[in-house]
Amino acid sequence: SKKLLLDVDCGVDDAQAIMLALAANAEILGITCVHGNTSVENVCKNTLRVLQVCNKLEIPVFKGASKPILGHEIKGGNFHGSDGFGDAPDPNAPSIDMIQEEGAVSAMIRIINENPGQVSLVATAPLTNLALAVRIDSSLPSKLKGLYIMGGNTESRGNTTVCGEFNFAADPEAAYIVLNDYLCPIYLACWEFTCYSKLSWEFCDRWLAQDSEKARFMARIFKHSLDLSKTERFEKELIAGTGLVSCDSYAMAAAINDAFILESDHFPVSVELTGTHTRGMMVVDTVGFMNKTQKACIMKKVNLDMFEQMMMAALK
Ligand code: BDR
Ligand code: CA
Repeated sequence: SKKLLLDVDCGVDDAQAIMLALAANAEILGITCVHGNTSVENVCKNTLRVLQVCNKLEIPVFKGASKPILGHEIKGGNFHGSDGFGDAPDPNAPSIDMIQEEGAVSAMIRIINENPGQVSLVATAPLTNLALAVRIDSSLPSKLKGLYIMGGNTESRGNTTVCGEFNFAADPEAAYIVLNDYLCPIYLACWEFTCYSKLSWEFCDRWLAQDSEKARFMARIFKHSLDLSKTERFEKELIAGTGLVSCDSYAMAAAINDAFILESDHFPVSVELTGTHTRGMMVVDTVGFMNKTQKACIMKKVNLDMFEQMMMAALK
């Protein structure tokens, strides 16, 4: 089975991605938390809530960076609610004491060094922890099997700023470091791709209506952002009609099953750090101007039947 390390900013789609991995035949070595959809403290709490409902509290959870490397924190809007989980009350939430004493960055370095060449790192959040880790241990990227990222964009369409996808816009310097220093295979589930790969509302209804504690939990924490996704404002942002866009789950599915990606582009990529409207925007070097040999695998088409099956299993 695959060895996975997850780096999350536990909003609702991160939760969906984690649950996908828990239901799959994968070994989760740890989950590192970072600022993003909500404060890193809430991210830690939310991650524990997910593990609790899945009976997997033995998986270690680590607290990481609370802010981006430079610049202001971008508030994740209110899309996932102020607590990242739709502000649905949870009186039985596990205690925050369950968070490991070891910090996320050192845990990341330790776990990858303990399993050289074997770990797939799935990052579904601003890349602050990963950037700090590679600055401390520059050998880290060469020891990863693969790095799967939800983030960036290919058509300069933003969901946070005009041209910025949230995970990259929330820490452009970190995204820059990761895309330029991690010389391991990198797989990208970019914003537009996730929008073009929506699942139907009909699927979403069936998915949430499953008779299980996990499905009831998901329906509760998802209500806030689900209602928002169905409004006119989001129809523009979500490109080409509405539907279920579980962004982070695409990166996870690719890490879990090698047959998930059906078509992809292979180009060098980087991130814009300055610019009035373009800070945090991903740039794709289709011609070769950047003289970079490393090419990222940019997902274009994935197996959506397989995706629906994995999503269903996640809430069983
Ligand atoms: C990304 O931003 C976050 O809000 C989501 O969890 C996802 O990781 C989408 O742009
Ligand atoms: Ca996320």
